[in-house]
Amino acid sequence: MEIQFLYQQAIKFASSKHAAMGQKVPGTNLPYDVHITNVAMEILIAGFNTPAFDTAFAVQVALLHDTIEDTATDFLELENKFGIVIAKAVSALSKNEALPKDKQMQDSLNRIKALQPEVWSVKLADRITNLQPPPSHWDNSKIIKYHSEAQTILDTLGAGNAYLASRLSAKIKEYRSYIHS
Ligand code: NI
Repeated sequence: MEIQFLYQQAIKFASSKHAAMGQKVPGTNLPYDVHITNVAMEILIAGFNTPAFDTAFAVQVALLHDTIEDTATDFLELENKFGIVIAKAVSALSKNEALPKDKQMQDSLNRIKALQPEVWSVKLADRITNLQPPPSHWDNSKIIKYHSEAQTILDTLGAGNAYLASRLSAKIKEYRSYIHS
């Protein structure tokens, strides 16, 4: 199936799921679609810059990546609609909320790392997209934590996609300027 069709199918599904939660881009009044389509945009451009990249797979995972974590969607629903490979990818990109908070990111990174480099790429693209000027209510310690988490993501998954790793590295340097000394 052509990528354009798969894209439309995934964005319609994800958009309706996030809208049903009334979810906005944090700190803004923008619909959550702005986040997921920005991640998909990063993935499409990475696809042009990466040999042997499965863009059709990766772009669907990008659009769906927060459906399990943030909406009423579960694994089985994704499996039935998009297949088990995509469901597994989205599941790896979702925090296991049964774990203590400080273990959740490393656990997710470990599960991502066991899958295809396209899944690593979605995590890199997600953090590239999220490294924006921090919301004004964030204190310095939260900004420092977000910065160091981004570095952990880069260190753990950067080998999965050279193009996105170099973009994330630049974004992390830029983000350092938001830390007050
Ligand atoms: Ni995300």
